[in-house]
Amino acid sequence: MVYHREFIYFEHIMMWCLLGLSLLICHVVYAADIDYLRSTITKHFSENRHHVNNNTNKMASKEFIYNEFKRFGLQTFYHNFNNTGISTVPFANVVGILKGTNFGKVNDKIIGLGAHYNTVQHTKGVDDNGAGVAAMLEVAKQLTGQNKQGVTRKNTIIFVSFDLEEERYIGSEVFIQNWLNPWLDKNYGNAARSLQPHGIIILDTVMEYNTSSNSQKLPNGAAYFFPKSYESIESDNFQGDFLAMIYRKTVDGSLATSMTMSWSSEKRPQFEIESFPLPFTNISSLNQTVKDSFENFFRSDHTNFWLDNIPAIFLTDSGNFRGDMVKCYHHPCDDLATMLTDDNINFLGKTSDAIARSINELSEPTKPDTSGCIRVSVSHVISALMVLAFFIL
Ligand SMILES: *[C@@H]1O[C@H](CO)[C@@H](O)[C@H](O)[C@H]1NC(C)=O
Ligand SMILES: *[C@@H]1O[C@H](CO)[C@@H](O)[C@H](O)[C@H]1NC(C)=O
Ligand SMILES: *[C@@H]1O[C@H](CO)[C@@H](O)[C@H](O)[C@H]1NC(C)=O
Ligand SMILES: *[C@@H]1O[C@H](CO)[C@@H](O)[C@H](O)[C@H]1NC(C)=O
Ligand SMILES: *[C@@H]1O[C@H](CO)[C@@H](O)[C@H](O)[C@H]1NC(C)=O
Repeated sequence: MVYHREFIYFEHIMMWCLLGLSLLICHVVYAADIDYLRSTITKHFSENRHHVNNNTNKMASKEFIYNEFKRFGLQTFYHNFNNTGISTVPFANVVGILKGTNFGKVNDKIIGLGAHYNTVQHTKGVDDNGAGVAAMLEVAKQLTGQNKQGVTRKNTIIFVSFDLEEERYIGSEVFIQNWLNPWLDKNYGNAARSLQPHGIIILDTVMEYNTSSNSQKLPNGAAYFFPKSYESIESDNFQGDFLAMIYRKTVDGSLATSMTMSWSSEKRPQFEIESFPLPFTNISSLNQTVKDSFENFFRSDHTNFWLDNIPAIFLTDSGNFRGDMVKCYHHPCDDLATMLTDDNINFLGKTSDAIARSINELSEPTKPDTSGCIRVSVSHVISALMVLAFFIL
């Protein structure tokens, strides 16, 4: 009897030890492939990508994104479109889909990640927006990598790279109207209009990191509208050492909260995040005075999703408000020599990791995410138990 009781006691301890061990070794690690980020930017997003100045190179980067999506195992599409008002050359968005088990059903809470790949005429567009595309590809690589390890997800993830962002965000506008809505109708039928997506994360100009005092400028009214972030930036002597997250306080709040929580789960505290919650919900109903005073917060593809009542958050280094981008934004020095520093690429790595973590959680993975686990086989556990039993009994 005594022996029996001891054995139960022993079993109990072992159970708790194993549980503790499995929690410890299965803590998920998101570790961006810094070499992949660096080589993607260097080889594919370091020359002009404008339809007049270098359409050949723009086409090559479009094909690169498509091929990467395919290589990762996404269902991949071109959304080809014309805009003769801009040019007679053809334009294209690139789309990659990672279907969840809720695909086609009303309870699919779709999550998007978008970044434009075109540039203005006289820039190489390393920060604007080679950096955003590289981070989007890195996130797709990490999440599809988890799926290859056996993770399945309830919710569908859409990756999209936009053309013609630099012309009043035409690429994302036609994407929503002529690709996304018809695609939803086709695949979700009557449920398409009742979907409640988590929303989309837009990356635009995300790599510049600057720890010099006063390297960060802020638009007028920032102290009044965003007192918490203003105070935090001021107490850091206006260093440009953070990712800016712009969103509508109401409808985009839960996406923003997920991103903030993922950011704080990542190490590397020198890279910060600051929130800019906007005090309105329906941007179609704003008068011109309000539109003008917030114009800097509308400057990317997220605006088209807001106009269509789709939740969206805009992540950016704030472009021409920060450090070298004050002079390099839309200019030739947005190039490798200025932008591809170790600090900048590591900052981009943290951004990729926080987004991968956030999208993974929002996708409701149905199996535990084992990408960061040390694999422990059953035979390892049995032999460990036998060794322990030998010493204790
Ligand atoms: C166009 O892009 C190619 C790389 O694909 C580059 O070698 C060339 O210098 C670029 N030309 C211009 C005018 O930007
Ligand atoms: C774009 O225009 C060209 C030339 O008129 C035409 O061949 C092509 O089918 C058009 N593409 C789309 C997507 O409408
Ligand atoms: C947003 O405002 C516009 C213009 O006032 C209005 O037509 C539209 O119905 C509003 N949308 C929502 C979802 O409230
Ligand atoms: C514009 O809207 C704001 C906020 O609703 C309001 O305070 C302001 O008086 C309006 N301005 C004009 C010129 O209508
Ligand atoms: C930081 O920003 C300042 C301008 O505020 C600029 O002169 C400097 O080159 C930047 N440093 C880095 C490392 O980007």
